[in-house]
Amino acid sequence: MSLPFELRANPRPRSDAERAAIMADPGFGLNFTDHMAVATWTSADGWHDSAIVPYGPFSIDPATAVLHYAQEVFEGLKAYQHADGSVWLFRPEKNAERFVRSANRLALPVLEPDDFLGSIEALVAADAAWVPSTGEQSLYLRPFMFASEAFLGVRAARRVTYCCIASPAGPYFAGGVNPVKIWVSMTYTRAASGGTGAAKCGGNYAASLIAQQEAAEHGCDQVMFADAAEHQWLEELGGMNVYLITADHELITPELSGSILEGVTRDSILDLAKEFGLTPVERRVSVPELLEGIGSGFVTELFACGTAAVITPIGELHLRDDVYTVAGGGTGEITTALRNTLLDIQYGRAEDSRGWLT
Ligand code: COI
Repeated sequence: MSLPFELRANPRPRSDAERAAIMADPGFGLNFTDHMAVATWTSADGWHDSAIVPYGPFSIDPATAVLHYAQEVFEGLKAYQHADGSVWLFRPEKNAERFVRSANRLALPVLEPDDFLGSIEALVAADAAWVPSTGEQSLYLRPFMFASEAFLGVRAARRVTYCCIASPAGPYFAGGVNPVKIWVSMTYTRAASGGTGAAKCGGNYAASLIAQQEAAEHGCDQVMFADAAEHQWLEELGGMNVYLITADHELITPELSGSILEGVTRDSILDLAKEFGLTPVERRVSVPELLEGIGSGFVTELFACGTAAVITPIGELHLRDDVYTVAGGGTGEITTALRNTLLDIQYGRAEDSRGWLT
């Protein structure tokens, strides 16, 4: 049976002027809407107490398991407003399915995809006034689930909280769509075989932060991680997948190794490739192969992709003291075209022939 997500109470809405001020320059992940979706799971009763409630803090016991053992998973997807005022989600069922896979890996209960989608649709309906209508802005949705049992023994929690919050969002990178600089980490790895790399769990992101700091110290925006065993196969950027385009028209992304997140944008790009005369390829790519390809000009474009980052060109790779410049440090033509095609579908400016919008 589906969980009901009914509006339980209306918060004191913020004034139109307050909302307009936030929407004028929302940034990324800084501002939140009036409501949130919640549900509770216990081993005795399963899922219950689902509702749309006023946005606000949780009160949690200091012994709450997630604070100690990080039993947590999350998702990220966006709602887009089209020119006619209608609001659409992009492939939300892919997020729902991944949420199930992540929950299984973290020994959390399964929230059925229908309930996941129901919670999101109810939240977006309650906070429709917060879906931006200008430029490349959208309403970023952040469903998450965490161990909320107060217990310090190490085992799967018997009480779990699900929540979805929403945040009007502009570009993820403060510089907008300008090419980013990437630090290739030779010190840290993100995930190992048999680990949690393919799950969207907070621990993976926590483990990436020190490398992110190292990148920032070297003037870079993000980190590129290699595999944990040999430290030579490209994996991902921690919060984004990566693609390279070659002179012989291949669009290559590292194959899903078990330690790479299966991104929805990554998957959509594989599908769009053929429209651009590109052959989509999922295979292992070594760091030396990438660097040599950039050096010889065989790798013509490089970009990062993710729900938050959309498609972000990579202008420079930094490895120790060496800098490798891609596409003259600018944005390659195919990267721009792929990006525009994806955004045109998401914002309803192009036909959604694949049925990606809900
Ligand atoms: C997303 O692209 O939605 C992500 O989850 C990446 C990051 C903001 C955590």
